[in-house]
Amino acid sequence: MQSLTIRRPDDWHVHLRDGAMLKAVAPFTARQFARAIVMPNLSPPVTSLAAASAYRERIVAAAGPKTGTRFTPLMTCYLTDDANADEIARGHAEGVWVAAKLYPANATTNSAHGVTDIRKLWPTLERMQAIGMPLLVHGEVTDPDIDIFDREAVFIDRVLGGLVRDFPALRIVLEHITTAEAAQFVADAPATVAATITPQHLHLNRNALFAGGLRPHAYCLPVVKREKHRLAVRAAAVSGSPKYFLGTDSAPHAVDAKEASCGCAGIFNAPFALESYAVVFDEEGALDKFEGFASEHGPRFYGLPLNEGEVTLERRTAVVPDRVVDLVPFHSGGTLGWQMSRSLP
Ligand code: DOR
Ligand code: ZN
Repeated sequence: MQSLTIRRPDDWHVHLRDGAMLKAVAPFTARQFARAIVMPNLSPPVTSLAAASAYRERIVAAAGPKTGTRFTPLMTCYLTDDANADEIARGHAEGVWVAAKLYPANATTNSAHGVTDIRKLWPTLERMQAIGMPLLVHGEVTDPDIDIFDREAVFIDRVLGGLVRDFPALRIVLEHITTAEAAQFVADAPATVAATITPQHLHLNRNALFAGGLRPHAYCLPVVKREKHRLAVRAAAVSGSPKYFLGTDSAPHAVDAKEASCGCAGIFNAPFALESYAVVFDEEGALDKFEGFASEHGPRFYGLPLNEGEVTLERRTAVVPDRVVDLVPFHSGGTLGWQMSRSLP
């Protein structure tokens, strides 16, 4: 197969930031994706309806004019211990908030205001279940006594299993899964539970963090895991199961914030995201499953229409520059065997 045309895809998990960074990165996401679920971990986090509406307008302005394609940001509410179920329900009814994001406090970038005890969220989760608003979960415990490579699996044991049991009708997305345990949990769970998968967790195992020296641009959270986990996540992505779908977790940080004594977590993969995924599906002999993963499973889970329009990828070498808008992109300085050639809205 020399070219692959699929229905226009969506990114079900992205960090677009704000200000100058937003202006720099949003066009890359808008070029490849019709819609994106935008993470609310700004500083301060997007907890109010007014903040979410204003942020959505800034995103549309940053993404729009240059790309020539329509791009729709789908906004999320950052859950805190003080989450207000009425405001969240109102925002959902008004079409501002598509979903709400659970960050365990201090699990990752700008999560200091996250949830300290899941029981504090019970009334909010009850309401979200009642109104059909999905819960998006950063699935890691923050207990410093737990080895960082085990934090996802322990979260599943300690928190997620109970959530799924106690809220049987709540739609839950376990974001950016990285382990065999997560892939298995989602496979075994009811149809209310799904997962997003990033390109980096399909390409990298934890050796990438230390290849010839410390590699800050391979550092994201949840951190990449052992090879057996990468293979399990790959198998899930290409399985054709509607429970797994595309979510890049593109998370840009300035180069000096990455290349520091205490560097930030996050991989900026937006410029070549589709190419990066296509390489994996090709390597797995599963190009026929790519459209489902990229363009169908997500909207069906969220109860949104499939996109019109299409994108075409061609089997030819894409050269990834060392820098893109002064940031280090995923696959920096490398090549990918697929390139997006066409996007029709
Ligand atoms: O690597 C990550 N970067 N993981 C996250 O959960 C947050 C993100 C960010 O915002 O930088
Ligand atoms: Zn993220």
